[in-house]
Amino acid sequence: MSSSRLIVALDTPEVATAQAWARAVAPHCGMFKLGLEFFLANGAAGFRAITGRPVFLDLKLHDIPTTVAGAVRAVLPLGPRMLTVHACGDGAMIRAARDAAGNAPDRPLILGVTVLTSMDPAGLAAIGVHDPPPMQVLRLARLALANGADGVVCSPLETATLRQALGRGPTLVIPGIRPAGAARDDQARVMTPAQAMAAGADWIVVGRPITGASDPAAAAAAIDAEAA
Ligand code: C5P
Repeated sequence: MSSSRLIVALDTPEVATAQAWARAVAPHCGMFKLGLEFFLANGAAGFRAITGRPVFLDLKLHDIPTTVAGAVRAVLPLGPRMLTVHACGDGAMIRAARDAAGNAPDRPLILGVTVLTSMDPAGLAAIGVHDPPPMQVLRLARLALANGADGVVCSPLETATLRQALGRGPTLVIPGIRPAGAARDDQARVMTPAQAMAAGADWIVVGRPITGASDPAAAAAAIDAEAA
C-alpha cells in the first residue's frame, strides 16, 4: 500500500496515453484520477484499462437526485475509490449519491466539489454568488458533509479554513496545485504541494504539471517528495 498522498489526473481522451502516464507515475503516486474527458471517450472499458493504482472517478455529477443515484450505481461495479458530486446540486442530491454508494467496506468515498479552482470572485459573482470564495466553499462543504459526503474538493487557499472549521474527520482533496515556478494554466487559486499539505490536505491532485512535463515520472517523483 503506497503512503503517497499524490493523485495524478490522467486528463486525456486516449487510453494508450493514459496507460503510458499511469505506468510512469504509479511508483510516485497513491491514486489516479480519471475525469469526464477520459470517461466520456472510453467508458467502463477505458476505466478497466487503467491499472496499478486505485482510481478516483471525478465525474462531478450534478443532476436531480434520482439521476445522480443511478449514475453512482452505474459506476459502482468498476470499484472507484472516490467519486465526486457538485455540492451546489443541493443536499438531497448529495444524500442520494451517498446512499447509492452503499455501505460495503470498499465503497467509494463521496466527495462534494465546492467551488472550482478555476473560479475567482468575478466568476462567482457572474453566477450570482457575491460572497467571497472562502465563505461559499465553507457553506457548500457544510452542506455536503451534513448530507453524508465523506469529504470535499476545494482549492488550496480554502484548505486551512476548512480543516479548522470541520476538524480532522472529512477527507480534503485539493487540486489547483502548482510547484513553485510552474505555469498556472486555467487554475486561478493555486499553492505548492508542500503548502497545500501543510494547510491540511489529505490528498493533492496534480495534472498538467506532471502529464505535460517532458519526464512525467520525474515530475511526479518531485511533487510526491515535496508533499511527503
Ligand atoms: O492539470 P491540473 O493540475 O490543473 O488538473 C487539475 C485536475 O483537478 C483536473 O482534472 C480538474 O478537473 C480537477 N479539479 C479542479 N478543481 C476542482 C476539482 C477538480 O481543478 N475544484
